[in-house]
Amino acid sequence: MRSRIVGTGSAVPDRILTNHDLEKMVDTSDEWITTRTGIKERRIASADEFTSTLATRAAKNALQMAGVSPADLDMIIVATVTPDYPFPSTATLLQNNLGATNASAFDVSAACSGFIYALSIVDKFIRTGTIKTALVVGAEVLSRIVDWNDRNSCLLFGDGAGAAVIRGEESVSGILDTYMKSDGSHWDLLYQPAPGSRNPVSQTVIDERLTFIRMQGNEVFKLAVRAMEEAALKVLSAGNMTAADVDLFIPHQANRRIIDAIGKRLEVPDEKVYVNIDRFGNTSSASIPIALDEANRKGVLQPGNLLLLDAFGGGLAWGAVTVRW
Ligand code: UT7
Repeated sequence: MRSRIVGTGSAVPDRILTNHDLEKMVDTSDEWITTRTGIKERRIASADEFTSTLATRAAKNALQMAGVSPADLDMIIVATVTPDYPFPSTATLLQNNLGATNASAFDVSAACSGFIYALSIVDKFIRTGTIKTALVVGAEVLSRIVDWNDRNSCLLFGDGAGAAVIRGEESVSGILDTYMKSDGSHWDLLYQPAPGSRNPVSQTVIDERLTFIRMQGNEVFKLAVRAMEEAALKVLSAGNMTAADVDLFIPHQANRRIIDAIGKRLEVPDEKVYVNIDRFGNTSSASIPIALDEANRKGVLQPGNLLLLDAFGGGLAWGAVTVRW
């Protein structure tokens, strides 16, 4: 039994924030952002768009492509660090929006690696025969937790959602191997200090801007390159494969220089590396499923292709998945 990706979907807000717009907000330049990150613009949610609404749009697109009805879903996982509410899970809000009455629904918190983690979980349930059909979504409205006064981090992030419908089938195609790893000793390199049980909302929390992302970009950068290379090599070797077998490498879109560095280390040629960071920035858990959906809808993915999905982010948490398309 293999977990086949039978439909993909994505959704991003209409509003575009360009580097030139950012020049008016913080002391930065289009040239600096472009050369340091590869980002030209990112999408920003409007006041009436939430993680659940973006997730719902992406999910509907994926279900439509798959020809799967919401009632057929056995499990819904939303990977997010920007849920609508601390609880209940955004997955239950999505379940309600879809009318997926037969599913269990829960969120996964693994920051930028959330989609990879969620895909890995679903794969295990499908392989054991516990469930047959699942919906995995990465969705974020990071613009609400970005410190728009912090030029070191605000330029990176964007909003969006990507979704995949996964079905258990007797097939040679589908998810081949998964790999997940975490290192909590670096939890404070990238985090949101509040609100939470440690720092519940208070005037001090607001005054000290603790509700916004804190990031030591440089440290994260170095660890990301090493960890994503490790994840890629582990998941490929689990299937007795090497990077030379990869037809399309879809890395988490964190920084163009990170993507290029990993591509180089793995010796995957540029034309096999999917990049859309220029248009969306870093959308955390949504970046891989948005890229996957774009590649799928462009007709880039051919039956039999080997896809390598690879992510890294806060936690630290990283991981990779190989998929035979
Ligand atoms: O999804 C996973 C999560 N996050 C990541 O993967 C982020 C990984 N890190 C990065 O992408 C990069 O570290 C950044 C893009 C955040 C920063 O790039 P960098 O090449 O690491 O720059 P830096 O922090 O070393 O800063 C270099 C210089 C500094 O000036 P001095 O000290 O050399 O004079 C910064 O103050 O660039 C300055 N700087 C800026 N200048 C113009 C920092 N941010 C900006 C800015 N515009 N926005």
